[in-house]
Amino acid sequence: MDPLITMAMLEEATAAIKQLADLTPRVGLILGSGLSPLADAVEMPVRVDFGQIPHFPVSTVQGHSGRLVVGMLERQPVVVMQGRSHYYEGYSMGQIGFPIRVMALLGIQVLIVTNAAGGVNMAYRPGEIMIIRDHINLVGMAGLTPLRGPNLDQFGPRFPSMNDAYDPALRELARKIALDEGIPFQQGVYICLAGPNFESPADVRFLRVIGADAVGMSTVPEVITARHSGIRVLGLSGITNILVGEPVPLRAEGAQPPNHEEVLEAGAALVPRLELLVRGILSEL
Ligand code: HPA
Repeated sequence: MDPLITMAMLEEATAAIKQLADLTPRVGLILGSGLSPLADAVEMPVRVDFGQIPHFPVSTVQGHSGRLVVGMLERQPVVVMQGRSHYYEGYSMGQIGFPIRVMALLGIQVLIVTNAAGGVNMAYRPGEIMIIRDHINLVGMAGLTPLRGPNLDQFGPRFPSMNDAYDPALRELARKIALDEGIPFQQGVYICLAGPNFESPADVRFLRVIGADAVGMSTVPEVITARHSGIRVLGLSGITNILVGEPVPLRAEGAQPPNHEEVLEAGAALVPRLELLVRGILSEL
C-alpha cells in the first residue's frame, strides 16, 4: 500500500512554507529537466529547499535542484518548483502529487507545468516548444494514479473530469505569445511513461500509433492532481530530442539514441524561449 497523503501532512507542509514566505502565490510554476535557471528570474525570492518542507518528496535527479522559490515574476505572486520528483525515483504517485496539493493550499489558481520531452511526432524539431493540448495517461491506465486512496473531498470530487485538462484560454494565450515572439512551437499530446529508461524503437512506434506527439516521465500525475483541485493548467514541453523509432544503425549517419546529457543541454537552450513565453503569459493573466 502506498503511504497515504493526509490533510494533516499537507497542512504541516503548507504551514512550514508560510512561516518562511509571507506571500500568497497566485500562479504555480514547475520547472523540468534543464529548465531550472528560470527560477533565478524570480524577484524578491524566498528559497526553501524541498528537504526543509515536512513530507515533501526530495528530487534526486541531476538537473533538478529541488527547491521552492516564492516571489514575484511579471508582477504576479508566484511559487516556483525548481526541480520535481519522479515516480522512478521511488516515490508513490500520491507523493508526486503532494507538492501540487501544497501549492493549492498556498492559494494558486493557475499552474504552469514545464518539462523536457522527446519528440514522437516526426514533424517536430529539437528546440521547439509543444503547448500541451491533451495527454495520454499511459502509466495511470495501468493503475498508478496520484488520486488513489480515500478522496480528499476538500480539494475535489472522487471522479474528476479530464476534459479540457489543459485550459483552452491559457493555450490560446500561449499560442498568441509564441507567434508574437517568434518562438517555434507545436500543439500536441503528451504521454507519460514511468521511465527512467528511454524508449525502445518499438516503444516509439507504439506511442506514435496511439496518438502521442511527445513523451516524458512527469507532468501527467501533477496535472491530474491540479485538475482535481480545479486549478487551471497550462503545460509546456520543451522538445529536447526526436525519437526516430528505428534502431540506431538504420538511421542517418551520426544519429544517437537519447541520453540525459543531451536532454539537459537542449533544455538549457530552451530556457530563453520558455522564459519569454512564461513572462508573456504571466503579464497577461
Ligand atoms: N523520452 C522520455 N523522456 C524524455 C525524452 C525522451 O526521449 N527526452 C526528454 N525527456
